[in-house]
This record gives sequence, structure tokens and C-alpha cells, in this order.
Amino acid sequence: MHFEFFVEGGDFSKAGVASSELKRLLKQLNIKPAIIKKTVVALYEAEVNIVAHAYEGKIMIDLSPEKIYIVLDDKGPGIPDINLAMQEGYSTASAKVREMGFGAGMGIPNIKNNCDELKISSEVGKGTKLEITTKINV
Ligand SMILES: Nc1ncnc2c1ncn2[C@@H]1O[C@H](COP(=O)(O)OP(=O)(O)OP(=O)(O)O)[C@@H](O)[C@H]1O
Ligand SMILES: [Mg+2]
Repeated sequence: MHFEFFVEGGDFSKAGVASSELKRLLKQLNIKPAIIKKTVVALYEAEVNIVAHAYEGKIMIDLSPEKIYIVLDDKGPGIPDINLAMQEGYSTASAKVREMGFGAGMGIPNIKNNCDELKISSEVGKGTKLEITTKINV
């Protein structure tokens, strides 16, 4: 099964739409609650990162019996130092984003802790791509 979502940068009112939809779908498919929980947390953080840090992005979700594979591809400033961005507490969030309650620098570490595989690639001035894989061990 394949699903796609569009995410607009800056629009916090819609942040979480894709992760809520994925939660509903995984529940319908009777996926283990623990797997649903971690996948939804990982997608939510990645979704909010597009809203907070990029201009726009696309989310593609592939569900197979073995795994949940999510790609988030955005147009944005990119991440100059991915290792640094992966560290807990590192954030370049703007004052506006912090006012919304984000910017603790915990999003990417949270994604990493809530999936089986995380790949990040980024080109400064172009955008960022995240690939998040969660195994479904029924
Ligand atoms: N999609 C993205 N495009 C550009 N930069 C990003 C993107 N995602 C993350 N970053 C960069 O990586 C940093 C760390 O991201 P992370 O999600 O860990 O923290 P945060 O978004 O700043 O705060 P939090 O997620 O805790 O609200 C961000 O501050 C930003 O500099
Ligand atoms: Mg974040």
C-alpha cells in the first residue's frame, strides 16, 4: 500500500496530519500498538521538522507485510552538518518556532530512537530527505 501527503512549511495548524492518518491506517491493519506508537512518533517529528525548518515537502509511505517505509523529501535550506543535527539539544529553530513550543533539539534523536533504520541525506540550499524504516514483526 502506498500513501502520499504534502506538507507546507510554516503551517503548524496542519502539522501532524500525515502521522494521524498513518496511525488510523495501522490500527485498521491490526499492527502491534508498540509499533504503531513508535512509527507515529517518528513520522510526527519528521513532519514537524518540514513545517518548522523547510518550505514544503512530500511524505511517501509504503506499507508491506514486513515493514513500514517512510520517505520525507523536502525543499528547504538543507542540513549542513547532519551529525550535529542528530545530537540531542542541537537546534536552529527560530523564535517563532520556539514560541510554538518546538525547538528543544530532540526531534531527530527521537526519530532515531523510534525506528529500525534512519537515513538522512541533505543538500544545503536544496533540501533534505529522510528515510525511516520500521520492521513489522507480527
Ligand atoms: N527538514 C529539515 N530541513 C532543514 N533543517 C532541518 C530539518 N530537520 C531538522 N533540521 C535541522 O536539524 C536541527 C535539529 O532537528 P531536531 O528535530 O532534532 O530539533 P528541532 O526541530 O530544532 O527541535 P524539536 O524537534 O525538539 O522541536 C534543527 O534545529 C534544524 O537545524
Ligand atoms: Mg524537530
